[in-house]
Amino acid sequence: MRIIRCKDYADMSRKTANIISAQVILKPNCKLGLATGTTPIGAYEQLIKWYEKGDVDFSEVSTYNLDEYLGLGGDHPQSYRYFMNDTFFDHINIDKTRTHVPDGSNLDAEAACAAYDELMAAAGPLDLQLLGIGRNGHVGFNEPGESFSKGTHCVELAQSTIEANSRLFDSIDDVPRKAYSMGVQNIMSAKTILVAASGADKAQAVHDMIYGPVSPRCTASILQLHADCFVVADEAALSLC
Ligand code: F6R
Repeated sequence: MRIIRCKDYADMSRKTANIISAQVILKPNCKLGLATGTTPIGAYEQLIKWYEKGDVDFSEVSTYNLDEYLGLGGDHPQSYRYFMNDTFFDHINIDKTRTHVPDGSNLDAEAACAAYDELMAAAGPLDLQLLGIGRNGHVGFNEPGESFSKGTHCVELAQSTIEANSRLFDSIDDVPRKAYSMGVQNIMSAKTILVAASGADKAQAVHDMIYGPVSPRCTASILQLHADCFVVADEAALSLC
């Protein structure tokens, strides 16, 4: 794992955006794995600015998001499809038909997950997978457990994840309890992985990801086994390292 130390959230966001834009410049038709959440918002904002200046062109890029809440369609303001459109895709020249998010409106979990895996298998390995990390070490919605998941699957969200994500909902009762998520094997298949992290509340998870035993108790620890994985994190997130 290569660790890129950043001063603060703004610095982390710029460096994350730099790596993503370099990928798009080097391979205009690249396949990006993308994440939602608070962590990548600054990077998406930076990429939009560079797009507006004419520095980066997304017209041939394809994207595959990590996860989606079960039961929320793409027009629901709290869905991850809505987040991606609103935060990023609506502001750049990406072809929306090349942007993919698991279909949370499909309540048939087996069919929805199989469809997403087929889509990804047809696309081939992602060139760059962007990840955030949960306070409990989750990546995507692969919560701590007894084993590492493989393909896209339906997960029961951990209580800590429901609490962390409730800030975006009117009340904690509105947070869906289940989600579709790429599995660990999907994530590990990417050619390059970039984990972005910011803030002291991520320090323990970031420490365990980098130095802990490789264990499904901290899902992100499996990234130690990936041949090309960067951690782009600010001082607060790296404070225990
Ligand atoms: C989001 C995702 C999650 C988040 C993680 C961190 O698509 O898969 O793993 O990356 O929960 O969330 P934030 O960035 O909000 O702290």
